[in-house]
Amino acid sequence: MRGPRVLVTGGAGFIGSHACLQLSEAGYQPIVVDNLRTGHADAVKWGPFVALDIRNSTALAEVMQQHNIELVMHFAAAAYVGESVTHPGLYYDNNVGGMIALLAAMQQAGVKDLVFSSSCATYGSPQQQPITEDTPQQPINPYGRSKLICEEMIRDQAAAHGLRFVMLRYFNACGADPQGRLSERHDPETHLIPLALMAAAGQRPPLSVFGTDYDTPDGTCVRDYIHVGDLARAHVLAAKSLAQGGRNLALNLGTGTGHSILEIIAGIEVVTGCSTPWHAAPRRAGDPAMLVADTRAAGRLLNFAARHSGLLTILRDAAPHFGLEVQNDLCA
Ligand SMILES: NC(=O)c1ccc[n+]([C@@H]2O[C@H](COP(=O)([O-])OP(=O)(O)OC[C@H]3O[C@@H](n4cnc5c(N)ncnc54)[C@H](O)[C@@H]3O)[C@@H](O)[C@H]2O)c1
Repeated sequence: MRGPRVLVTGGAGFIGSHACLQLSEAGYQPIVVDNLRTGHADAVKWGPFVALDIRNSTALAEVMQQHNIELVMHFAAAAYVGESVTHPGLYYDNNVGGMIALLAAMQQAGVKDLVFSSSCATYGSPQQQPITEDTPQQPINPYGRSKLICEEMIRDQAAAHGLRFVMLRYFNACGADPQGRLSERHDPETHLIPLALMAAAGQRPPLSVFGTDYDTPDGTCVRDYIHVGDLARAHVLAAKSLAQGGRNLALNLGTGTGHSILEIIAGIEVVTGCSTPWHAAPRRAGDPAMLVADTRAAGRLLNFAARHSGLLTILRDAAPHFGLEVQNDLCA
């Protein structure tokens, strides 16, 4: 028997395509809607692809009806913090406008269940670590604000029209499908691990390390890196929770362990034998010293724990996509 049909907005992107892979393996049928603004058509491999901008609410509702959609996973968004500072209108238009259109389409098509890609950027720069879901959400850039507005819209739609939701606040997504079927291909690349791997492979100039005088063990920023395969699995668990009548949730997805930039550089050398050229650069405005998730709620309420997010595993799975050979597979 064919499993439940899931509309995956942004399914041609990095995290959405990995979610489609795992949905398919778990028996779901992913139907991708993407305008390919930053995604790749060749990453849509596990179900139909509809080329569409989600802000076209009428067409989106038609797609939901044609495919008898039971659940929406909403990844489609503009997701570059720096770009959101220089082009805030684009972020409110695409992310908030996209959410307005999506919620209207779901209501029109009678689809009640939503899993939403939120972000640790909604917390801003909290003093207290690790960050729990109760930490005040005080975003410090338009990207984070657009995600927080979306969260609030979802809660309002739930109260007014019975929408049911799981909002997942990802920390730093990274890694790739270990079988090499998908990879991270952001353009321009702004994520640290791909940038560091490209520098190690000689594909880019030396890595700029912004700030080496933070109050962290080695002075560089600490972040919580979670393997995209773990994120994808959390989406399958969220779908199951909604199908079983589980309650509405907003959950952090991270590992609870932070890694500094210098630890990543050292990890690349362990895994690939290549050193990453880097130079110290001044701190960037708005970069918190440390962002680490408190992961207990996702464990308790979704039975989720990251399994493949050890730093060396992440680097092992990502490195081949940047032309680097894995010399030491210490994580098998
Ligand atoms: N990568 C991370 O570390 C991270 C962290 C927290 C949250 N997120 C969120 O996860 C989601 C996926 O991120 P990603 O890293 O895979 O980014 P991505 O850019 O690879 O994927 C986003 C996809 O959405 C599509 N898209 C954008 N606007 C669209 C529109 N109006 N209509 C149709 N399709 C549209 C893009 O073409 C792309 O395929 C985003 O919502 C992002 O904000 C990502």
